[in-house]
Amino acid sequence: AAFPIGVATAAGDDPKSILKSDKVQELVKQHFNQITAENIMKPQYLQPTEGSFYFEQADALIDFAESNDISVHGHTLVWHHQSPQWMQDCATVAECTNFMEDHITTVVQHFAPKIDTWDVVNEAFHEDGSYRNQQKDWEGGSFWYQMLGESYIATAFKAARAADDDIELYYNDFNIEMNGAKLEAVLDMVKGFQADSTPIDGIGFQMHIKSDFPSLENITSALEKAVATGLKVKITELDIRINEGAKSSVLTTQLAESQKQRYKEVIDAYLEVVPAAQRGGVSVWGVKDSDSWIIDLYGNIDWPLLFDNDLNQKPALEGVAEAL
Ligand code: XIL
Repeated sequence: AAFPIGVATAAGDDPKSILKSDKVQELVKQHFNQITAENIMKPQYLQPTEGSFYFEQADALIDFAESNDISVHGHTLVWHHQSPQWMQDCATVAECTNFMEDHITTVVQHFAPKIDTWDVVNEAFHEDGSYRNQQKDWEGGSFWYQMLGESYIATAFKAARAADDDIELYYNDFNIEMNGAKLEAVLDMVKGFQADSTPIDGIGFQMHIKSDFPSLENITSALEKAVATGLKVKITELDIRINEGAKSSVLTTQLAESQKQRYKEVIDAYLEVVPAAQRGGVSVWGVKDSDSWIIDLYGNIDWPLLFDNDLNQKPALEGVAEAL
């Protein structure tokens, strides 16, 4: 395909690290042309203590990618999760701004020119479309918003652009393919950026979805609205869970087939709606089912990805291949 087909991989100390498995490396080389680090490029990994950047693990992953003609999508510069405690403890506007700008500048410049697309800000909105703050604790508040207000997002994008004007800057979020209020909030933010020339190049749809929800119509219309901004549109973290409520203890042929169709229809919709020039690509969030974060999140067995626990390809992979 003429655009990135990516996969999130564990790396670093993670026992599931791609660098610890020749078999995973072979499979990734065969099926994908982009990698996202599942964790190790998040702020808590890259700057565990103030001013001490830890790039070795990320550099090792990038070396693997580079020597195999695989690009790396950077994830993520600014997030309310997986940020080190010292960063979360910033106490004044000046200090918080400084922590954020310094992290962004150092990280972007370290990885340039090897990383040319970044998720700059991840998950800034609540489900009702308000900015994620500290009040709605069940959804997780943002210390950045609490300290800096909504302008922290523009500050982050400007810092990323200032660090390297050759990179593509994404805003990334979940549920925006199904939740109109949240999508509208993202689109309003984008329009505001465009109106006052705050840099932004793309919208990332995480797309952690189910085989039967949301509807294809919903996904299609959300993608259309994103395309209308003129920005790039990327599916950044696709996984399709098929076992809500642990109804099945095994991956049945029927479940596997419905998942195959779902992978196919989502990527078909992406190709139909997003013009070639605006395609940021499609990435799945993990290699094999047992590695998927979905299992931990929902606390029951599921099979959301393209390869089974023995790294055999599932019907889902055929669904992707048929769409491409
Ligand atoms: C998840 C990882 O998959 C887990 O290993 C980690 O424990 C938590 O983060 N949205 C994102 C990703 O943007 O960074 C998250 O990744 C999944 C949800």
